[in-house]
Amino acid sequence: MILVTGGAGFIGSNFILDWFSQSDEPVINLDKLTYAGNLQNLATLVNDERHSFVQGDIKDSALLMQLITEHCPRAIINFAAESHVDRSILGPEAFIQTNIVGTFRLLEATYAYWKNLDETEQNRFRFLHVSTDEVYGSLEPQEPAFTELNRYQPSSPYSASKASSDHLVNAYYRTFGLPILITNCSNNYGPYQFPEKLIPLMIANALAGKSLPIYGDGRQIRDWLYVSDHCSALRRVLEAGKTGETYNIGGWNEKPNIEIVQTICALLAELTEMKGHMTQGAHGNYPDLITYVKDRPGHDVRYAIDAHKIERELGWKPAETFETGIRKTVQWYLDNQDWVANVQTGAYREWIEQNYNTMRT
Ligand code: NAD
Ligand code: TYD
Repeated sequence: MILVTGGAGFIGSNFILDWFSQSDEPVINLDKLTYAGNLQNLATLVNDERHSFVQGDIKDSALLMQLITEHCPRAIINFAAESHVDRSILGPEAFIQTNIVGTFRLLEATYAYWKNLDETEQNRFRFLHVSTDEVYGSLEPQEPAFTELNRYQPSSPYSASKASSDHLVNAYYRTFGLPILITNCSNNYGPYQFPEKLIPLMIANALAGKSLPIYGDGRQIRDWLYVSDHCSALRRVLEAGKTGETYNIGGWNEKPNIEIVQTICALLAELTEMKGHMTQGAHGNYPDLITYVKDRPGHDVRYAIDAHKIERELGWKPAETFETGIRKTVQWYLDNQDWVANVQTGAYREWIEQNYNTMRT
């Protein structure tokens, strides 16, 4: 079996659903269920014996030891993290605790277990740490995309905490021989993404007739990857990645934020008209909702991933283009407006109020 941490979040839940579409190997899912964790994402697995959910914190060493020694996983995949840059600016503490201290405790528990395995099991074991391209910092428009050899230059408390965790994971390979793998992936989008991140926030706001807040001039560039492509890359790295190595994962889809938002507006107009969806808001005049707001402090101008290594060494390439992925995503949010309504609790509304009130120009 495998142990997944953070499996009730956006990418973790997509990964588990994807895993069971390919394999019957059981998954233990350890998740704290922060505001970003949602068991509704895994509702189809309620009576599925292959999936066991445990609510808990990756900082809880006793719980980690108990779970690992009881279940003897052949691999641990660490998704658990605080993941939103804006939240890390308003409150970095949780990022330090989960992303750095949590990863450290998980490494300690994993190493204590792994060093007592027999040689065959030790050789078979993998610790896969899921990280981000944001550890490399910001690119100028003319600079080449990030390779695995780029210097770490994180800008935000979020990316600095992820960078720290990557260094710790590497240290457990170099110092103790723990068979680790690290992946640094670009911005994901797709089903079950919490509507604080750009794409689901814009879809939810547009459908509610609320403004679409663009930070700064909207020309910042991200490299977008449809989440199922991230999942297939992770499966491939787990299966065939060389221990101690880092693999960059990206979609070859560099787009400025404003273009993303315009595409969402156009797709919403097309798909709501086609399907006769009832929306509370703008009824097709979605671009009128675009509002430029104060920029994010330390805002990285551009991320771009050079994904040649994973293609060359492991034969992985994304299956979706941005055009196919964004269409599926907008359609998913239209078809799952109850899911969106259920996560827009009091705490969510407080976050929106706190973040965007400080950004009004
Ligand atoms: P998310 O915020 O949607 O989910 C994070 C999950 O981790 C939640 O279910 C949460 O409850 C859980 N969690 C948080 N703190 C925990 C703790 N202390 N113990 C146990 N569980 C805890 O994040 P996501 O977008 O799914 O990202 C997953 C991972 O992928 C993160 O490590 C993130 O850094 C990385 N990543 C994300 C992106 C992206 O675009 N979203 C891109 C590259 C890498
Ligand atoms: P986000 O989804 O937060 O991902 P990240 O900051 O990790 O790349 O943001 C993606 C881009 O969209 C980023 O350049 C910030 C911008 N953005 C906005 O312009 N408005 C918003 O309301 C949000 C959430 C993000």
